[in-house]
Amino acid sequence: MPLSLSNKALNVKPSSTLAITAKAKEMAMAGVDIVGFTAGEPDFNTPDSINEVAIQAIQDGVTKYTPACGTIELKKAVCEKFKFFNGLSYQPTQIVISNGAKHSLSNICDALLNPGDEVIIPVPYWITYPEIVKLADGIPVYVRGEKGNAYKVTASQIETAVTDKTKILILNSPNNPTGAVYSKDELQEIAKIAIAHNFYVIADEIYEHLIYGDKKHVSIASLGPEIYERTITVSGVSKSYAMTGWRIGYTGSNVEIAKVMSNLQSHKTSNPNSIAQKATIEALQGDQSALESMKHAFEERRNYMYERLIKMPYLDVLPPEGTFYVFIGIEEVLDKIYRGKVIATAQEFVEILLEEYQVVVVLCDDFGAANHIRLSYAISLKKIQKGLDRIENFLGKLC
Ligand SMILES: Cc1ncc(COP(=O)(O)O)c(C=O)c1O
Repeated sequence: MPLSLSNKALNVKPSSTLAITAKAKEMAMAGVDIVGFTAGEPDFNTPDSINEVAIQAIQDGVTKYTPACGTIELKKAVCEKFKFFNGLSYQPTQIVISNGAKHSLSNICDALLNPGDEVIIPVPYWITYPEIVKLADGIPVYVRGEKGNAYKVTASQIETAVTDKTKILILNSPNNPTGAVYSKDELQEIAKIAIAHNFYVIADEIYEHLIYGDKKHVSIASLGPEIYERTITVSGVSKSYAMTGWRIGYTGSNVEIAKVMSNLQSHKTSNPNSIAQKATIEALQGDQSALESMKHAFEERRNYMYERLIKMPYLDVLPPEGTFYVFIGIEEVLDKIYRGKVIATAQEFVEILLEEYQVVVVLCDDFGAANHIRLSYAISLKKIQKGLDRIENFLGKLC
């Protein structure tokens, strides 16, 4: 009889964004002049000042185990960042440092969920949330944001989804894939529901520094003691400091949750990389000018991209407020004729774009958003120009 594998593991969907990014890289390496709008990470290198601290750390022998949930030095730096940037007061005992924010999210679900517990996930969502919830024996409950509200969910929509099994709401602001940012008022209303129905909020704030125009980031945990107690705030250095490969994420929560997460982590992975922890202290406490200049470059690209995209036919472009993504509805493209053939599905549209125009975009089906694509502007302005020219050319041929 053949030996079986874990049903839980077999039910995990492979990450389609990683797969398509790999495909774009592969084509580029084979010499195809590809424009990939798929990047989920900054195209910048980690700032030199951060790299130098890491090199020094290796030379100083910072190469041993650290406490499983992170060094006290880094936890203090995270507390200061939470205080000054987010208006949140945490003690080091409330902080857990993990191997990227993805790992933090997985730890939280493992720490909080019992079989059958429900987790409200606003749609569209980052593709990893449902998988992490299911792996922790939770049940995803989807709540769809309205287009007229930039696909953000309202407190009353959340309330309709609440049952006596609701344990967690996962809130992501700024949002991947929509780029939408929740306002203080919206968060305040959501906080009231979380308190009234007594469930946790996972606030995934990994893109908190990447907000443009006059919108401001607000941490839901900062809106009063009751919501603070129920919220696990997640962030990290991957996106803001161009440190995706270093794998450092962190959480602020009540002490009890932090203890359980630390305990889990101590058996599953032990500490996150000791050198990366040192580098993260520099990222959080050192000169912030690199962060500012990366943000400035993203904003310039975002403005250029949005201005061009809204002039293109058939595309329904959501004004991007944060992250480095533009979320686009392509429903109008469907049923258009291209070279004598009907484009029947979003998948076909994306395939023609790749094969005939060498442009790769992310299809958002796995984000819960059929007939939508996501374009990343974490690539150079020159590439963005070239890619948009190609998309425009393609759209111009539809009738
Ligand atoms: C919404 C969201 N949360 C968390 C993460 C994970 O970040 P990290 O690279 O720190 O694991 C990502 C990365 O794509 C993301 O988009």
